[in-house]
Amino acid sequence: MTAFSFEVLATDGAARLGKIQTAHGEIDTPVFMPVGTVGTVKGMMPENVAATGAQIILGNTYHLMLRPGADRVQRLGGLHTMMNWPGPILTDSGGFQVMSLTKLRKMTEEGVTFRSHIDGSRHTLTPENSTDIQYKLDATITMAFDECTPYPVEKKVAAESMRLSMRWARRSREAFVPRDGYGQFGIVQGSVFPELREESITKLRELDFEGYAVGGLAVGEGQEMMFRVLDSTMPKMPTAKPRYLMGVGKPSDIVGAVVRGIDMFDCVMPTRSGRTAQAFTRRGTVNLRNARHLDDTRPLDESCSCPACRNYSRAYLHHLIRAEEMLGPMLLTWHNIQHYQDLMRDLRAAIKAGTLTQFVQAFEAQQALGDI
Ligand code: GUN
Ligand code: ZN
Repeated sequence: MTAFSFEVLATDGAARLGKIQTAHGEIDTPVFMPVGTVGTVKGMMPENVAATGAQIILGNTYHLMLRPGADRVQRLGGLHTMMNWPGPILTDSGGFQVMSLTKLRKMTEEGVTFRSHIDGSRHTLTPENSTDIQYKLDATITMAFDECTPYPVEKKVAAESMRLSMRWARRSREAFVPRDGYGQFGIVQGSVFPELREESITKLRELDFEGYAVGGLAVGEGQEMMFRVLDSTMPKMPTAKPRYLMGVGKPSDIVGAVVRGIDMFDCVMPTRSGRTAQAFTRRGTVNLRNARHLDDTRPLDESCSCPACRNYSRAYLHHLIRAEEMLGPMLLTWHNIQHYQDLMRDLRAAIKAGTLTQFVQAFEAQQALGDI
């Protein structure tokens, strides 16, 4: 069996080209992980997700514990078998989703008690049972149980929240069952305060996780502030382990974070936007619902290899969206995932060639052109 490992193969400034080895296969970094919240990347067959170049997808503890249930997923052979995705899967630990999806909830030192957004039933998540659920799901990468500190927040409150997450990180680490080729990541918190972020990193380092995530960003602080936090935080992060920026983001967020040394990303943006007719292209975003596409026989993006761009016109995609046909969201989701994977491939190539600065300049210039 392969041990869980990470190797930096090349650097360009703070950016890294790397490779993660896992029990379920290799991951070339920087990597984007499509979100498969409930055991499906919405609207896409897993074979097609893999065909875009995606090497790892994300699942959610919160959703899967409620439906179909962690014990049932385990009986069905784990998430990989159940959903026919043999590759690596990272699962988020649930606390973040509880805070964003449930209204009535109670947080204590022990964990968080909440009511299901599906049927109102009462549940509790703790560092221990979140870690156990992720074991049952057969997550290749398990996330520590944490609190995503809301923004904006006073420093005192941010410090208390971060320290709670650090106590939870220790309990998560103790509950983690080590297995060959599997890993667990700790999550750095501390909001926008450099000293708190540093304290968080120091505490997580003691636990020697297989990787480190940066949480509590993309919560309304804006790109400039997010980059500022990364500028002060990244130099303090362990260099020999993968670094994951949770819930990020737009293509320009990803490019800026790769430049600052982030290796892994996940975001609902490509999939969710695909379902609401928004497409990402080399020249920025395009809304396929717009009437300007009615008679447009051109492909969505000339330089994209996905089926939506190879086989169909903008006019047809527009028609599918207007007619509320399910093929519309399916094709746009496929395109958006392909677009994100192409971006990551190009970023990896630029780091390898030592041309990341030129790549970023060209990327920004192209995005600024806008769709025509
Ligand atoms: N997804 C986006 N941000 C966060 C975070 O801070 N913590 C967790 N667990 N998931 C996230
Ligand atoms: Zn495409």
